[in-house]
Amino acid sequence: LCRSFAALTIFPEMFDAFWATGMVRRAIQGTYIEGKAVDLRMFAEGVHKTTDDKPYGGGCGMVMKPEPLMRGIRHLREEIPGAPVVIMSPQGKPFTQAVAESLSRERGMILVCGRYEGMDERVCMQADMEVSIGDYVLTGGELPAMVVMDAVTRLIPGVLGGDESAEKESFSEGLIECAHYTRPPEYEGEQVPEVLLSGHHKAIESWRLESSLKRTFLKRPDLMVDRNFTREERVLLHK
Ligand code: ADE
Repeated sequence: LCRSFAALTIFPEMFDAFWATGMVRRAIQGTYIEGKAVDLRMFAEGVHKTTDDKPYGGGCGMVMKPEPLMRGIRHLREEIPGAPVVIMSPQGKPFTQAVAESLSRERGMILVCGRYEGMDERVCMQADMEVSIGDYVLTGGELPAMVVMDAVTRLIPGVLGGDESAEKESFSEGLIECAHYTRPPEYEGEQVPEVLLSGHHKAIESWRLESSLKRTFLKRPDLMVDRNFTREERVLLHK
């Protein structure tokens, strides 16, 4: 079941390297996803193909006109029936792994990339969702749209190989990842924890959970506050 992603943007060329690189490229080659960036100017009128205008009520900056955006959204809604229309905006709902997981179960998504001060409110009213990738302001929604597509793509069953499966990732379980090591066993005087070389799978699993818990406490204590700890986690924390 191939997911269809479409980004509506005045800068479609920003996506060229995104489609052509890494896991996203492989997901396209394997027909797990298809993706395209659609030029908003195709839906604009006049010789200048204007997509923005001055804000009503005055003030600095420009606002994206509703007509080109709505024509583009209607066109893409027909092309990808049932796909949610997601507006990229710093005022949107915070994008999290849980949002990515829910979007990965859709048959596609239509990502609307804003520029300037934002878009006409009547467009926002027509969207299914408004999403922010963090509390900072970018010059446009193109990078956020790529962030969303990237995070969603790697969750689609089959996109990641068996042993890099996204299924048992710590973040989806509310903790950050355990520490990782590869060869050599000693580097600049620092040893790889012995248990990882032991081949004792039960002990390794337990060490990894403890590492995740410690690292979450040190780096992201906010994630610990509302956590319902499992019995195994409570045992490890009491050690
Ligand atoms: N557009 C500009 N800033 C943004 C952000 N932080 N998230 C989503 N879209 C944006």
